[in-house]
Amino acid sequence: MHTTSDTEALKRAAAERAAEWIRDGMTLGLGTGSTVRHLLDVIAEHRAAGQWSGVVGVPTSEDTTQRARRLGIPLATLDERPRIDLTIDGADEVDPELRLIKGLGAALLREKIVAAASRELVIVADDTKVVDRLGTRAPLPVEVDPFGAAVQPDFLRSLGADPVLRVRDGRPVVTDGGNLIYDCRFPAGIADPEALEISLALRAGVVETGLFLGMATAVVIAGSGGVQVREREGAR
Ligand code: A5P
Repeated sequence: MHTTSDTEALKRAAAERAAEWIRDGMTLGLGTGSTVRHLLDVIAEHRAAGQWSGVVGVPTSEDTTQRARRLGIPLATLDERPRIDLTIDGADEVDPELRLIKGLGAALLREKIVAAASRELVIVADDTKVVDRLGTRAPLPVEVDPFGAAVQPDFLRSLGADPVLRVRDGRPVVTDGGNLIYDCRFPAGIADPEALEISLALRAGVVETGLFLGMATAVVIAGSGGVQVREREGAR
């Protein structure tokens, strides 16, 4: 286990390493979460030093939009910049095949849309996110349309999940897209992520899942032994 200050230092180290992918003039997808906050700081520091004046960020959440604005990072919408050179984002789990679970920050829908529009997706994380099998550490977030959301738990249970509606301060969490999230625990993890993704995608009312399969081109993992980069074969 790392202490909180260790973990923040690891997140910063991962963000600094991933920032080495950034080139001036890039359209840069900006993920969401505490590790990406370090990345935003790193970008702002480079800009303050006179670098990357041509970098434009496409944020994946309202939270990232506000933070990037406060740091003076130029932003555009995905509609304005539909081709993204590189997205840097966090993750909640990373498996040996660079498959991911994302969405504990509730931004999975926009994160996935931006990732799918990106030539490269670099994930930044500390080593507590590394798992042998997806679903063993984090629940899988499943974003659903609020209309008739109560029909979804039985369906999710039929897929082996133990779904819990995400609630904060006694109220259902509403995503930036106006949807709800069921956090799905799988008692033995997710045996076949691709099959699960297809079953979920075919279900009416399921808007998106936190499974990011075949999307990450590289993963930057920071641990007490240093920063490790894993790149997907054939990704470039
Ligand atoms: C946001 O919806 C998530 O996908 C985040 O990318 C993920 O939760 C990682 O966040 P941290 O960097 O805060 O762990």
